[in-house]
Amino acid sequence: MRALVERYRDRLPVSSSTPVVTLGEGDTPLLEAPRLSKRLGLELLLKWEGANPTGSFKDRGMTVALSKALEDGAEAVICASTGNTAASAAAYAARAGLPAVVLQPEGAVARGKLAQARALGARVLSVQGSFDDALSAARQLAVNGTHTLVNSLNPLRLEGQKTAAFEIVEELGGSPAALALPYGGGGNTRAYVRGFVEADAGLPVILAAQSSDRDRTLASAIRISAPAHASEVGEGLAQTSGRIVTVSDEAILEAWRLLALEEGVFCEPASAAGVAALASAGLEPGTRVVCVITGHGLKDLETAERETPEPAVVAPDPDAIAAAAR
Ligand code: F0G
Repeated sequence: MRALVERYRDRLPVSSSTPVVTLGEGDTPLLEAPRLSKRLGLELLLKWEGANPTGSFKDRGMTVALSKALEDGAEAVICASTGNTAASAAAYAARAGLPAVVLQPEGAVARGKLAQARALGARVLSVQGSFDDALSAARQLAVNGTHTLVNSLNPLRLEGQKTAAFEIVEELGGSPAALALPYGGGGNTRAYVRGFVEADAGLPVILAAQSSDRDRTLASAIRISAPAHASEVGEGLAQTSGRIVTVSDEAILEAWRLLALEEGVFCEPASAAGVAALASAGLEPGTRVVCVITGHGLKDLETAERETPEPAVVAPDPDAIAAAAR
């Protein structure tokens, strides 16, 4: 195992004396997707970020943020989160031996993510408000100096996350023509723009897929009314000749289903937004496009259980099983 911080030390804001807080993040698979490619008339590849240690892309940024927090003598870290940042912060803080405080918008986070943050020892607080309310509170505490903020407003997070673009360029021997990914707060979109700029291999057209109902989408990871990085996302997308693509919950669920049924990739709903965007993106047939699949399906079992048929109950009898399995 080579820690992400070790692999890209010369391109990250760390020094030889920075302690490395790692769980073996990054170096995730870039999967071919032959059935979905055929269906969409594109050459589709999937950057499978659910393969990170806590099950989402957040680990790329968190290894850098916690390594630097440790180096700088931080006493505690804090984040507001729709769930994945929380789980990642909890894991890397435990690894660093630092306390983590997690603010979750009450009742709006998938249970698996919360259980994960709790098991990893974070102090989880349910804020009676939206993600945006929780983020304002976390920012205030960080300004007061008691806690280090590890949301993507912490620039070290984006630095770590840009390494996904480096990996794609290394593996393909250049940039793809297009890249699609979910757009919540916009930190990851900015990180990819930065990564491709720094890799100096040409810029893909970046398609940032947001929900048509940001306040209520079933894709709870991107249920964010006011994206913190909106203006920089606008600039970054213009730089790549890209754009925001708005997708409905139905389109997200359809893409989520197809990823699982046709490619064997079980992700959480938000993670399918990039694939959902391709149907209406108007890319030339045959375009090589990488979709970033941001988080694991085990994070959100509520959706999987609601959206799929329940198992039939059978006796432990081969004939009954054969009949039921038809
Ligand atoms: N996909 C997943 C699985 C996410 O958890 C998030 C954001 C995004 C996409 C969007 O990324 O915000 O950088 O545009 N999750 C944050 C969290 C908000 O708290 O875990 P973004």
